[in-house]
Amino acid sequence: MLTKTDTAASIVVCSTCRLNDEAREDETGKRGGALFAEAVREAAARRGNSDIHIEETACFFACSRYCTVHIRDEGKISYVLGDFRATEADAEALLDYFEHYLASKDGVVPYGKWPEGVKGHFITRQPPAGRVIGK
Ligand code: FES
Repeated sequence: MLTKTDTAASIVVCSTCRLNDEAREDETGKRGGALFAEAVREAAARRGNSDIHIEETACFFACSRYCTVHIRDEGKISYVLGDFRATEADAEALLDYFEHYLASKDGVVPYGKWPEGVKGHFITRQPPAGRVIGK
């Protein structure tokens, strides 16, 4: 059920998220989440940052908030965000946030640094293994 991946900091995109309220896939059979993963990879490549780890996974059980992603790094708080579409603007906003996340000590990015495109998109935060938040 689980597939081993790199433990590096990564953006994990749910590739099974639907395309829109009416359809799960586009005319070529691609899910909205798979298209969003492509958009994020293209945005990273435009930045000359194609070594950002972008993984694809199956459902996070947050389907109504499609498209969803999990941002994680070892020892940091991780986040599930949603309500993205496979657009350049959404991919850029996510990468802008991810760059601040990578630079943070524990995964907390000051609100003043949040790109507009991620505000209202956070669904959950999770403490890393061996830690809890706020103690
Ligand atoms: S299909 Fe993407 S969260 Fe369920």
